[in-house]
Amino acid sequence: MMKLAKKDILGIRDMTVDEINLILETAESFLEISTREIKKVPTLRGKSIINLFYEASTRTRTSFEIAGKRLSADTINISASTSSVVKGETLIDTARNLEAMNPDIIVLRHSAAGAPHLLASLVRQSIINAGDGAHEHPSQALLDMMTIREKKGQLAGLKVAIIGDILHSRVARSNIYGLSKMGARIVVAGPATMMPRNIEQMGVKACTKLEDAITDADVVMMLRIQLERQKQNIFPSLREYAQHYCLNRKNIKLAKPDVIVMHPGPINRGVEISPDIADDPGCSVILDQVNNGVAVRMALLYMLSGGNE
Ligand code: NCD
Repeated sequence: MMKLAKKDILGIRDMTVDEINLILETAESFLEISTREIKKVPTLRGKSIINLFYEASTRTRTSFEIAGKRLSADTINISASTSSVVKGETLIDTARNLEAMNPDIIVLRHSAAGAPHLLASLVRQSIINAGDGAHEHPSQALLDMMTIREKKGQLAGLKVAIIGDILHSRVARSNIYGLSKMGARIVVAGPATMMPRNIEQMGVKACTKLEDAITDADVVMMLRIQLERQKQNIFPSLREYAQHYCLNRKNIKLAKPDVIVMHPGPINRGVEISPDIADDPGCSVILDQVNNGVAVRMALLYMLSGGNE
């Protein structure tokens, strides 16, 4: 029985090391299903999962949908732009109406930090946070940790550099919580205007130069600039940003020779990562992250449903 002792997956901050390990091990065991000719097991037959997405998404939404389908659950996708949200319905009213249709799990992405926590306190269904504003993105951090562990064998003792718009990145925040719990050493770098003031209180080292952060790194994680969350212009131009913070053939030499390069996607080629690095099978694990994402989401759906196989 690999059941999680919680109703919801809201963030990595409130997860224990044992829970993280259990989720990663379960996800590793699910990887194989996606390589079968018939990529389907009956585990969640009869369960319904609603993907409720108030923000744009390609990977996360598709990945939750495929994960549910591979476990034989019925998956339903709702995106804000084609729902009654455009008619003025509130999140709470939408949730109450969905609850009345008796789904088992609701996967929520929302631009407001805390939206999944609010929903979790209101409805009896399990809520999975698929990204809430600049706050947390737990399934992304789990698939990132799974990918690092797959490539490096372990997380403890590794130097992980996280580069870019740290201030607005839920991916950075969830990874900082997770990777530090798992014993990795984290260095973040980005322009001062994209760095949270109290970041070192999260147990990471902060610098302004990309070069300082990636020196001797085992893992380099690049982030997209979250233009949609920036309230004012906090950097002069994309070109100038790229001059200082784009990972390229030259600066990557500062990292360990066997460094792996990660990005949650969507990537902006030539802004935070040069195309030749993004596409280099020798270091880029960006598509491995996507592959592992399906397995992590299968694990989360399975474990929240009480896992019995
Ligand atoms: C990330 C997100 O939405 O937070 N993308 C993702 O889920 N793969 C990162 C981003 O949008 O930059």
